[in-house]
Amino acid sequence: MKANDLRNKYLDFLRSQNHTIIQNAPLIPENDPSVLFTTAGMHPLAPYLLGMAHPAGRKLANVQKCLRTNDILEVGDDTHLTFFEMLGSWSLGDYWKEEALTLNFTLLTEVFGHAPDRLSVTCFAGDEDAPRDDEAAQIWQDLGIPASRITFLSKEENWWGPAGLTGPCGPDSEVFYDLDPTNSEGGDPVSQPERFVEICNNVFMAFEKDGNGCYHHLPQPNVDVGIGFERNLMLLNGCQSVFETELFVPIIEEIQRLAQQDNAFAVRVIADHLRSALFVMAEGIIPGKTDQPYVVRRLIRRAIRYGNEIGIKGSFLAKLAEVVIPTVSDAYPALEEKQGQLCTALDEEEQRFQRTLVRGERKLADLIRESRHHGQPVLAGEAAFDLYQTFGYPIELVEEAAQSAGIAVNKAGFQQAFEDHQALSRQGAADRFKGGLAERSLETTKLHTATHLLQAALRQVLGTHVEQRGSNITNQRLRFDFSHGERLSQTELDEVERLVNQQIESDVPVTWSEMSLTEAQEMDALGLFADRYGDTVKVYCIGAFSTEVCGGPHVESTGPLENFRIKKQESAGSGIRRIKAVLVDS
Ligand code: SER
Repeated sequence: MKANDLRNKYLDFLRSQNHTIIQNAPLIPENDPSVLFTTAGMHPLAPYLLGMAHPAGRKLANVQKCLRTNDILEVGDDTHLTFFEMLGSWSLGDYWKEEALTLNFTLLTEVFGHAPDRLSVTCFAGDEDAPRDDEAAQIWQDLGIPASRITFLSKEENWWGPAGLTGPCGPDSEVFYDLDPTNSEGGDPVSQPERFVEICNNVFMAFEKDGNGCYHHLPQPNVDVGIGFERNLMLLNGCQSVFETELFVPIIEEIQRLAQQDNAFAVRVIADHLRSALFVMAEGIIPGKTDQPYVVRRLIRRAIRYGNEIGIKGSFLAKLAEVVIPTVSDAYPALEEKQGQLCTALDEEEQRFQRTLVRGERKLADLIRESRHHGQPVLAGEAAFDLYQTFGYPIELVEEAAQSAGIAVNKAGFQQAFEDHQALSRQGAADRFKGGLAERSLETTKLHTATHLLQAALRQVLGTHVEQRGSNITNQRLRFDFSHGERLSQTELDEVERLVNQQIESDVPVTWSEMSLTEAQEMDALGLFADRYGDTVKVYCIGAFSTEVCGGPHVESTGPLENFRIKKQESAGSGIRRIKAVLVDS
């Protein structure tokens, strides 16, 4: 099936089911400063999901371009992309589960033609916010999905949204395609991720999450359905990966023609990143230092680095763009109309990056020479960050060069400096938005203290290999990245939460003192030492539970933190886990 036929088939069917087809919104959200990109079809519809009347009615559908950079490290496998299209449909307080899932099943099996016996589904297992979704499971069974192909999963897997920190969300029911035709028996997409491809998500958007992390019932329950266009196209054409579909074949072939080495992963990353960069640039964004321009820069530079790695010589992105654009011009003519401008911008960015690399290399050579001269075997993370920040010089290249000179790079320090900078610029953006000066609020101060407790608890529960890899705090939540190879079990998460709350309940005093680095090391204080050569450091102690080098400020004792709740864990790259947590009133 051709790409455009699939888009049309989808829209024709939804139209025949009395849905109004709404426009494909821009990738750069209009009137929404809380996110950089449209990441799902529901995004531009948030006000209507919250109850405002939509001028086009209560049953809507569209094809929506989306960009997600949180999956960037997965790109290169068979199914992940940064730019993708989502086939979306919505009931804004109109039909509910039975009609929604019946419509979905008919669409997938009769309209698209997926074999019903290759479909497995997951439903929400239930918790204190919403009950187990037996209703959805029963509907699936009535439609012919055997109980052995229905799995109940927790909030982490089967609850969608909100897209930002607050907004519409709810339990969901995902549909997976079973890649193993010999296996007629059930199967669970979580324990056998290789065997299943997620092709669709039905979200029962009946809740709104507020700034305190609480869920409220929406005045109208909505259904939000998102179907992965590229993945369905891949399966319907018997392809092994999205990169084998007509959307990618010409691009992949051209990259392979230019390359000196065979490296499927690099080829896929280049194809994906260039396509994403072109779609964003077609909306008037040029590569730059912050926000969307920065994401475009990152995508382009990552593509160039992979290009260099497989031996592509000279500037190549503009040439490649001429191959990418025709693969999408049926549905997105704007790219073709702007082809000249887009190619010029790519050329300029490629040249700028080359100059950056030359300047950065010089500076890096100086730094390595200095480190050696002072007998320091580690390049400070802040120096690496400075190279990155001032010259746009990528950390991977810093590491390579340092390694060949026998010097390590304090990657944790780099990550910390990076996060601090991001937090600052995000804060800066928020300040610009509010038009005033933000002081550090009591809320962020409490969350800083909670982060220390979290790190200490993680080390108690998981082991001392746990080290901070990044931290980011807003006035609503903390986000903490740390070294750990596996997903935490629910028991581990519960235990971490319990340990933190125990410290809060005991209202432990938070004290600090300044000392030399050596003294801090002798106290086994956690912290990023290599970045603080020679300095005196401030060490914060929370009773005997946590000792950590930090600039502060912190609350005076832990009692006011009230109640610590882990909201989410996810991967933040290979060997790194991320926890998001909030403080709630008890
Ligand atoms: N909002 C859901 C998703 O992005 C379904 O559209 O998966």
